[in-house]
Amino acid sequence: VETVQAEKNENKVLTIAHRGASGYAPENTMAAFEKSVDMKADLFEIDVQMSKDGEIVVIHDTTVDRTTNGSGKVKKLTLEELRSLDAGSWFREEFAGEKIPTLSEVLDKYRGKSGILIEIKSPSLYPGIEKKIAEELKEHNLHKPHNEKIIVQSFNHDSVQTFHSILPSVPVGVLIGYNEAGISSEEMNEFSSYAEYVNPSKKMVDEDLVDRIHDHDMEIHPWTVRDRKSADALLDAGVDGIITDYPDYIE
Ligand code: G3P
Ligand code: CA
Repeated sequence: VETVQAEKNENKVLTIAHRGASGYAPENTMAAFEKSVDMKADLFEIDVQMSKDGEIVVIHDTTVDRTTNGSGKVKKLTLEELRSLDAGSWFREEFAGEKIPTLSEVLDKYRGKSGILIEIKSPSLYPGIEKKIAEELKEHNLHKPHNEKIIVQSFNHDSVQTFHSILPSVPVGVLIGYNEAGISSEEMNEFSSYAEYVNPSKKMVDEDLVDRIHDHDMEIHPWTVRDRKSADALLDAGVDGIITDYPDYIE
């Protein structure tokens, strides 16, 4: 069995744990990041937003309603209010007491231990968020080339370009939501003028798309894999990394 698994991922495709290993622990919590490292994922992905008092925090939705025992918008709550919430119980009682992490504590804890793919979520709600993220990376000395990859990505390509112009030493990726038209040549050329990664919905990926991205000297990390069959199809198409809730599915 081991030989077959090794052959499937012979090109060392990166395993990227989506919101941490979110199939096994509450998304975007230290428990999920710990699980990602335990499972030997190469990177974990996090979503970042900003508290009312300007701290970068790790949470997917623009409200705390779905993933904590609180309610309200992230941007209307102070760091202290956000930190008082339970971000684990909704997933399973054993995770009670998990907190919404700050970007700073994630960088402190995982610097040198795991790659981190940072998604800037809803940047239009948080003017200046790109500069703050850049400052945090510099404070943690993560703006220089590093063994463990640090990548910044967003669906908002203006935000990606803003971040890139502030801190060009940190590679950036463009996220692409599913669309039937695919990615035009014009878009591909534009992305390649600043981005190192094009990260589309897995539904858009075939060998042709992978080749076009490689021809533009970029790499591709599709999302979000939740079954072994799609993991295998992406490996066959030749992707460079796979963003998944289940790091053990990338074999
Ligand atoms: O990393 C890409 C993926 O996370 C994008 O979708 O909604 O899970 O942030 P979402
Ligand atoms: Ca995300």
